[in-house]
Amino acid sequence: MVLAAHRCGLRPAVGYELNPWLVRLARLYAWRAGCASSVCYHREDLWKVSLRDCYNVSVFLAPSVLPLLEDKLQAELPEGARVVSGRFPLPTWQPVAVVGEGLDRVWAYDIHSGGPTVQASLAPSSVLVPRVPEPQAG
Ligand SMILES: C[S@@+](CC[C@H](N)C(=O)[O-])C[C@H]1O[C@@H](n2cnc3c(N)ncnc32)[C@H](O)[C@@H]1O
Repeated sequence: MVLAAHRCGLRPAVGYELNPWLVRLARLYAWRAGCASSVCYHREDLWKVSLRDCYNVSVFLAPSVLPLLEDKLQAELPEGARVVSGRFPLPTWQPVAVVGEGLDRVWAYDIHSGGPTVQASLAPSSVLVPRVPEPQAG
């Protein structure tokens, strides 16, 4: 996911994973892809990481932690951020898009001040476009 984010032009592309072997494997894949110096993987607890500056968040986590994750994302992410959850949907949020089939299915959500809502302009099978922050006025 981190490599794919980097290839989409998202900077910085950062991944968090507790399992040290998976962190090493991810770094190996990045090295093999020639992106070792462009992406970064931390063996770090996601719950201790602030997501306040993130406009694109992709998660692939067990369903049991997704209710807690909804709270963290809603509390920390800026308005306009996009969240993509792989394989398992967030339990109470309404996706703006659902892409892929079976194990490769992903659900996309947009952060609004009133909470994630359905966005009429995106069809359920739309291509997902990364979010960029709105330019600041002034
Ligand atoms: C469904 S697996 C995904 C594995 C791998 N990261 C990937 O993307 O293919 C969920 C992973 O979440 C990791 N995980 C669970 N709780 C975490 C946390 N609090 N912080 C970081 N990673 C966590 C687990 O170690 C596990 O490998």
